[in-house]
Amino acid sequence: MRVRLIVGSVILAVVSGSGVMAFNNSPYAAKSVKEVMKIAHKDGLLKKIQGGSASDEEKKQLLDLYVDMLEGEPKKGDKAEYLAKTNALVVSAVKVVLGKEGALDELKKTSDCMACHSKHK
Ligand code: HEC
Repeated sequence: MRVRLIVGSVILAVVSGSGVMAFNNSPYAAKSVKEVMKIAHKDGLLKKIQGGSASDEEKKQLLDLYVDMLEGEPKKGDKAEYLAKTNALVVSAVKVVLGKEGALDELKKTSDCMACHSKHK
C-alpha cells in the first residue's frame, strides 16, 4: 500500500513536471516559416516592435521566431541567399533585444518583405 502510494506520487510528479516544462517551452517550440510569417508579420508582432510599444518578452519572441526561420526551409530560391537574409534578420533582432542604437532601423531593412518574397516565397 505504502509502496503503491509512493510510486503513484512519483508518476504524478513526473507527469506534472513534464507538463509544466512543455508549457514553459511551448512559446519557443520550433515553428515553420509559414507560422513565423503569421505570428511575426500577419498578427502584428513586428509592427508592434517597430512602433516601440513592445515588451522585452515580445522582442525575445520575435528573435525566437527569426531563429526558427533561419533554421527553416524557404519555399524556393537559393538556400545560401536565404541564409544570408535570415542571418541578417536574426542579428538585427538580437540588437533589438539588446537595445542597441539603430537596431530598429536595421530591423526595418532586414525585414524587407518584398526583397525576400520575390526570391524565396
Ligand atoms: C527573409 C525572408 C522573408 C522576409 C524578410 C519576409 N518573408 Fe514573408 N515569407 C517568406 C517565405 C519563405 C514565405 C513562404 C513560406 C511558405 O509558404 O513555406 C513567406 C510567406 C509569407 C506569408 C504567407 C504565409 C502563409 O500562410 O502562406 C505572409 C503573409 C508573409 N510572408 C508576410 C510577410 C511580411 C508582411 C513581411 C515583411 C514585414 C515578410 N513576410 C517578410 C520569407 C520572408
